[in-house]
Amino acid sequence: MDRVVASAPAKINLALRVGAPRPDGFHPLDTVFEAIDIVDDVEARRADSLSLTISGLGEDLPVDETNLAIRAAHALIKHAGLEANPPGAALHITKRIPVAGGMAGGSADAAGTLVALNELWGLKMETSRLLEIGAELGSDVPFSLHGFLAHGTGRGEHLTPITTKGRHGWVLVTSRLGLSTPAVFRAFDQRGGLADPENAVVPPPSTRELREALVTGDLHSVASYMINDLQPVAASMRADLKNLLELLDDAGRATILSGSGPTIAILTDVEGVAATKRRVLDLLSSLPGSYEVLTAEGPAAGARIIPDVGPHANSGAGLSQRT
Ligand code: C5P
Repeated sequence: MDRVVASAPAKINLALRVGAPRPDGFHPLDTVFEAIDIVDDVEARRADSLSLTISGLGEDLPVDETNLAIRAAHALIKHAGLEANPPGAALHITKRIPVAGGMAGGSADAAGTLVALNELWGLKMETSRLLEIGAELGSDVPFSLHGFLAHGTGRGEHLTPITTKGRHGWVLVTSRLGLSTPAVFRAFDQRGGLADPENAVVPPPSTRELREALVTGDLHSVASYMINDLQPVAASMRADLKNLLELLDDAGRATILSGSGPTIAILTDVEGVAATKRRVLDLLSSLPGSYEVLTAEGPAAGARIIPDVGPHANSGAGLSQRT
């Protein structure tokens, strides 16, 4: 096979509870991830060396060794024991996930690259192995491989699938100016005094009630338990975000910052997406600045080879659907 394409989903944290930083600097999380049907596509073609090009939203992103997709390729080569004679690939990412938006776009590119190159190079690595490699690359990479709905613990890399009834509609408001994840976590520590060594073992609050609501599928109840501990911090860092969150508070069933932001995610019934989008656009017309409004549905599959592209269609790392 000379060419494969994998698609990998963006995520929204339905809840993101954060504890005090660990000795390694990462924060213990109790989070509920939902994969949505906004995806980046990673195309991999056989080539003598490794290269990367990007089209779509991320045309300004670096394509060198700092890009998480290139790092994913190197990690795969290392884990496959191929460092002495590394295989090459020309990677091309078609980006649709907003950059630096709190929706794990970079992690999706890494997940898509792992799945695409596993296939292109015929490595036959198990999903469990890809999840381990993904965790080395970033806290959100395993979830982009996993997809659907999952409870995340540790720094977000330990995943337990959640079964839910029904589907969710989403209206997403993205800002042109991104937010740095490490900066938001640092501000969280300063605000809560959590960087103080005396507070060293503060576990994150639990997401148990939200997970129970997801199992019953009652959207009203799901909405009532959505919470993001980084939201007040991100809003204090960016006045525009604070205004936006207030303005959009009643636009759907629940309005929440996605991850470390600045994307704002509004939960709605699948049938209500178009009407909610109109309401959001109407509300935004009263604000200065330019925002993009996207719509999505979830839960969606994890990173996988796109069907009908390669001869091994659908053999990627996406786990079976658990809706
Ligand atoms: O794991 P990832 O590379 O995505 O994390 C980016 C940054 O976000 C980390 O360097 C760290 O500053 C912060 N982070 C954290 N705790 C987590 C996840 C991320 O402090 N659980």
